[in-house]
Amino acid sequence: MFQAAKIDHSDKIAFYRELSQQLQGLLHGESDVIANAANTSALMFEAMPDLNWAGFYFLKSRDELVLGPFQGRTACVRIAVGRGVCGTAVEKGVSILVEDVHEFPGHIACDAASRSELVVPLHHEGKILGVIDLDSPTASRFDTDDQAGVEALARIFVQASY
Ligand code: SME
Repeated sequence: MFQAAKIDHSDKIAFYRELSQQLQGLLHGESDVIANAANTSALMFEAMPDLNWAGFYFLKSRDELVLGPFQGRTACVRIAVGRGVCGTAVEKGVSILVEDVHEFPGHIACDAASRSELVVPLHHEGKILGVIDLDSPTASRFDTDDQAGVEALARIFVQASY
């Protein structure tokens, strides 16, 4: 049985180094995309403090994301590319940090409790496969250390699953 070890969050660089190692161990030898997305969501939700949603949206056609495995409240199923934080991250091909979702034009509110958000695209062989989406009930919960850390988690997920 995989046991998610408690990680000290005070040093974010060390936190994400340790979380990356745990994710590598968790996904080792498994390439099923749904299973790996489910376990990646569960690990992030358990290990990262102050989240109310952690999960995946996958690009199922050129212009639409569809909800994947996640932890948290039920969420909107389809997001057009270019819409919301997730669709904007896909359109631009970059991670998006939103300190206050009320200030992001077009933000799609799945849970009214969400105040800040981090969306990281999943890159593979020059294409975008989808995104990892993290929501927090606290404004400015995420910074560039979180962004770099979750980008590393996204690379581990893609490497194991595709
Ligand atoms: N807030 C996202 C929608 C997904 S939920 O947060 C789970 C967005 O604006 O794209």
